[in-house]
Amino acid sequence: MLKNFWYAVEFSAAVTGSPTPVKLMGENYVLYRGEDGQVVAMRDRCIHRGASLAGGWVEGNCIRCPYHGWRYEADGTCVHIPADQAGTPIPKRARIDSFPIEERYGLVWLFVGDLPAEQRPPIPALPEYGDPAWRMITGEYTWNAHYTRVVESGLDSSHAPFVHSVFFNLRDDAEVPPYEVQMEDWSATARTISKPPKRAGLLKLIVKRDRPFSSATLTAHMPNINRIHLDFNFRGYQYIYFASNIPVDENTTLTKWIGLRNFLPQAWADWNSRKNTNDTYLEDKAVIESQVPRVVPLTGEILLASDSLQLAYRKLIRQCVERGWAVGSDYGIPSVSVSTNGNGKAPIEVSVG
Ligand code: FES
Ligand code: FE
Repeated sequence: MLKNFWYAVEFSAAVTGSPTPVKLMGENYVLYRGEDGQVVAMRDRCIHRGASLAGGWVEGNCIRCPYHGWRYEADGTCVHIPADQAGTPIPKRARIDSFPIEERYGLVWLFVGDLPAEQRPPIPALPEYGDPAWRMITGEYTWNAHYTRVVESGLDSSHAPFVHSVFFNLRDDAEVPPYEVQMEDWSATARTISKPPKRAGLLKLIVKRDRPFSSATLTAHMPNINRIHLDFNFRGYQYIYFASNIPVDENTTLTKWIGLRNFLPQAWADWNSRKNTNDTYLEDKAVIESQVPRVVPLTGEILLASDSLQLAYRKLIRQCVERGWAVGSDYGIPSVSVSTNGNGKAPIEVSVG
């Protein structure tokens, strides 16, 4: 898991005047919205005797601990200890860590790390958000898996005929045409072409099956965001999936996702759109939760030309580890296991950049 990034940890609408607990990289935080409308993030542990502030309540822009009523300002400073005699000074150490917050795209972004504001990797762009041409739905789901495996599944162009066979039904035609990877400082992107799905639920009613191809532009925004931009190659119909795969801990990922489509803007079509996303999740979950090692290794495994985008993602992770941004034990012990594949050919090393 990597520090020094903005993590979208909750939908803005879920953060209110009632404290909300969130867990990120094994640490507990509490979020709340003060009366000034600003979201506050603090470590969710009272400095007095360790109670969770998420069980407390908000007063103005402050939060009150439910155990003995200590009151904290938005910057984490304790400003009231009810059990003290009037006039007793509050100990200087009576403060809790508070963390930078941004709200963007209807999500609350929490920064955990030690970089000053001007050096922090930016929150990725989502220009379609808020554009009336795009109908939005949101959702969430949980994986018993490390977030890096989840991100990689969203970069993977060769699993669809196998994992999503109901939708694609193309197992006898699974070749992935060569594609280019574009790497930027904090992202890797590739546009892949695929045969149109044979069965596509509601889409089959509006999309002709004789299209020559459809395309998917797949992006990993470091360290935990997937953007999947599908172009159905029909009347400009497109769908964008933007997912924050939150590293809750080393074996749990909570995905908060936004789905945007520029066709069928009516509310009745939301159900179908959400069902497609959830069905896809369940199919991916069955495989991803089986993967060993749990964390994507930075060396080893057999990455082929069709895996170039995952290779680029691993390169970006490695750069962050080399900067000293790894937290937890994920990359404490490198896992190395290189072998040739069954047909005697060496793994294809793919260069990206
Ligand atoms: Fe929070 Fe005592 S534990 S006030
Ligand atoms: Fe998938």
